[in-house]
Amino acid sequence: MCGIVAYVGHRPSADVVIKGLRRLEYRGYDSAGLAVYENDRLEVFKKKGKVADLEAHIGSEKPKSTIGIGHTRWATHGAPTDGNAHPHFSGDGKLVMIHNGIIENYAALKKELSGKGHEFQSETDSEVLIHFIQDVKNNLDCGLAEAVRVALTKVVGAYAIVIMDEENPGTLIAARKGSPLVIGVGEGEYFLASDATPIVEYTNEVVYLNDMEMAVITRENLSVRHIEEDEEQEPYIQTLDLELEAIEKGGFEHFMLKEIYEQERSIFDCMRGRLNAEAGTLTLGGIHHYQEHLINANRIIIVACGTSWHAGLVAEYMFEEFARIPVEVEYASEFRYRNPVINKGDVVIAISQSGETADTLAAMELAKSQGAIVLGVCNVVGSSIARLSHEGVYTHAGPEIGVASTKAFTAQLTVLAMIALKTAWHRKTLSEARFLEYLCELERIPAKVAKCFELNDKITVISELFKDARNFLYLGRGYNFPVALEGALKLKEISYIHAEGYPAAEMKHGPIALIDEEMPVVFIATRDSSYDKVVSNIQEVKARGGRVIVVVTKGDALIPKMADFVVEVPKTCDAFMPMVSVVPLQLLSYHIAVMRGCNVDQPRNLAKSVTVE
Ligand code: F6R
Repeated sequence: MCGIVAYVGHRPSADVVIKGLRRLEYRGYDSAGLAVYENDRLEVFKKKGKVADLEAHIGSEKPKSTIGIGHTRWATHGAPTDGNAHPHFSGDGKLVMIHNGIIENYAALKKELSGKGHEFQSETDSEVLIHFIQDVKNNLDCGLAEAVRVALTKVVGAYAIVIMDEENPGTLIAARKGSPLVIGVGEGEYFLASDATPIVEYTNEVVYLNDMEMAVITRENLSVRHIEEDEEQEPYIQTLDLELEAIEKGGFEHFMLKEIYEQERSIFDCMRGRLNAEAGTLTLGGIHHYQEHLINANRIIIVACGTSWHAGLVAEYMFEEFARIPVEVEYASEFRYRNPVINKGDVVIAISQSGETADTLAAMELAKSQGAIVLGVCNVVGSSIARLSHEGVYTHAGPEIGVASTKAFTAQLTVLAMIALKTAWHRKTLSEARFLEYLCELERIPAKVAKCFELNDKITVISELFKDARNFLYLGRGYNFPVALEGALKLKEISYIHAEGYPAAEMKHGPIALIDEEMPVVFIATRDSSYDKVVSNIQEVKARGGRVIVVVTKGDALIPKMADFVVEVPKTCDAFMPMVSVVPLQLLSYHIAVMRGCNVDQPRNLAKSVTVE
């Protein structure tokens, strides 16, 4: 949801910023821009389209300036046009700014500024902010840093901003509230970005700016200040554990395919150092002080969005089955506005890949304000959700760049399975023998996921046959119901085919009316406690002429007789089946999208982390 990059140091800033924008392009890709200080003035280049369009617009004569800021946009206010692209100038043209976030009181500020004669070149809330900062600077007759600080105390909304000033051309001023901002610390140089991926090839020393902090940065110095308390803060430098190769495609055509294939490794990494089936141990260092709260929870409330919400649905079944704790799974966006009942003894679990999803953050804040203990399950280390949680467990899936979530989902399931099992062990709701069986089975999951990759050729053939379908239905029961939802989400978000996921038994209450020979139906019908019922549902679809693709457990002799296509996945227990059965659905959506010529890694209208509501 918009990516920002900035640089001050000794390198040509355009190179650093453009390269960084390419790495952040998954966050937004409808327009891009760059500002540098060149020929004694601020120069801005911006263009509708991808970072490649911006590069073409700049041409081969790249600016040589060693300070610069850049932006890749996901439109909120104003259509994707050259004019709405960032950076934006202040009214006097002396300041230029990039912004990720949303200024909620921009309309009131715009009205006030228009009354004072300000004219705006774009429809964005961001341009209003930089005009407002300039106005505050003129009124207070102070330095830019103080003007930024004072202006931000009057702003409602979320922002990560970086500003360049024509009168101080060696200084960057940055600030954040609600949107992420990381500062890379080099030798006589600093890098700023929405996440660490543009920084990691230059330095692994970083400072995560906290909410309500601003920074003044020159090539020699970084100083951090609290915006409201107006107090100097000591920047806390951390060392990143992120390899460059983890954020490159490594020979795969798309990040999504690479990330699907990484799942064998990422599920293993997620368990590494935590689970040892041979020794019979499961240690989750991330939940320590609040372990008792979880063990004695009267109820668990899971808040999340999108794919992470689907992981939450699987976790509901796991916690209820293993630990016998009632669970409610909430869309964070609904929960935050619903005046929910949170009782003493409730524990909230927030699930998020990016750790920056605005709705999930707001749901956590609400839960915390009502006294709940909030545990986080996050992929991005140091992210806002990780920091807002009382405690939590990282998924350690590595950077997920493809907009459609794949390896983060299976890593979330792995973490949630471990938390549920550990809680069950403490609560003694599972016998020691069952607990150990589950640990052994969880250790086998990476190999079982790898087996699913052998299905790739068959799924490519199926994709070719169904790529022109206009609708798809995905059906599953029990643990496979969330997998049906996830399969449908994957297909619609990257191939733009309408797809719906349903609990298989609900089909007869409505969706069955849609079934005809034009309607492919994907069943997830692995051998579990609802297998016989799902077989009946398959027959109901076949009887109405529907075309049926079924994910089955290896060796299934019955379903191949009635289905048009089957894909066989290895056997595992019901609770862990989603980690395996989702893989063919990820591959199906990937191949269909590629065959339809869609941009798999950057589907239209989407952004990887949704930092606005
Ligand atoms: C789907 C997808 C989104 C995210 C959702 C939540 O493939 O990526 O639905 O799952 O936006 O994002 P996180 O997990 O970052 O909070």
